Amino acid sequence: MEIIKTVTEMQAYADQKRAEGRILGLVPTMGGLHEGHLSLVKLAKEEADHVTVTIFVNPTQFGPNEDYETYPRGLERDCRLLETIGGVSAVFAPDEASFYPGGADQQRVWVVCPEMSKYLCGKDRPGHFRGVLTVVLKLFAACKPHVSVFGLKDIQQYILLKRMIHDLSLNIRIVGGSIVREPSGLAFSSRNENLSSNERSQAQVLSKAVIAAADMIELGEKSLERLTALMMNTIQSASLAKLQYAEIVDANTLHPVEKLIPGARVIAAVAVYFGDVRLIDNAIADVPVE
Ligand code: PAJ
Repeated sequence: MEIIKTVTEMQAYADQKRAEGRILGLVPTMGGLHEGHLSLVKLAKEEADHVTVTIFVNPTQFGPNEDYETYPRGLERDCRLLETIGGVSAVFAPDEASFYPGGADQQRVWVVCPEMSKYLCGKDRPGHFRGVLTVVLKLFAACKPHVSVFGLKDIQQYILLKRMIHDLSLNIRIVGGSIVREPSGLAFSSRNENLSSNERSQAQVLSKAVIAAADMIELGEKSLERLTALMMNTIQSASLAKLQYAEIVDANTLHPVEKLIPGARVIAAVAVYFGDVRLIDNAIADVPVE
């Protein structure tokens, strides 16, 4: 497994593999690797014959009062884990100086996000998605993938990236991986490492809330008030939880739905703070056709 640190080396490496006729798969991550990330690596191996994992906690997608400093980092451990599971050809863990020539504050050109970036997490994290899209576009420019895999855990990110790839004609196939959960239902997240043991056991309320709402929708519940109350009450049953949002949104536009229309696909989504740690979760539901 090659460990590549600069954009120029990564580009040369990708050019060489493309010239050899390889299908390049990419799994972008910020490290702190867990089962969720590893499931994406597995998917990438099915889709491509040469897999690169990127590991980069970038300052671009974090707001001024967010957890950039405390975000879990451990490149050596992550690389060991990837070596153990096998099938990863390269890790791209760029030096900041190579990714941001002249410094991260010299980033002048950004991807402009569509309207849907303002809903859900976008309300509470202004500038976050413009950072994500810009960083991922730069990772694509460095790694030159044919196919890139992202998790549905960050469903708003996934939908926005899909839109970016489409609207900018990037000629990259995007594949979405299902949410991987711990036995308690808690979705794997690098940020779980920063939870106390009490917070961690209470954090299962996120999955309970979204899965219960999605199940109710598929069983025919039509009242958005009842569904939202169900999610809010479930979250609030955890004494350490601070709810940020609990919403039912349209699966294509991410706009909060005003009515559950038969045949529509919707997403039950929540964001919750435990102390300084912000967690998200979601579940997709199809409104039954009467
Ligand atoms: P990160 O949070 O490290 O996540 C990397 C990828 O793993 C994302 O596509 C995310 O959706 C997926 N993922 C995380 N937890 C998951 C879980 N429990 N099940 C399935 N997939 C999961 O998302 C980012 O990093 C960054 O924004 C990035 C795209 C790398 C850009 O910097």
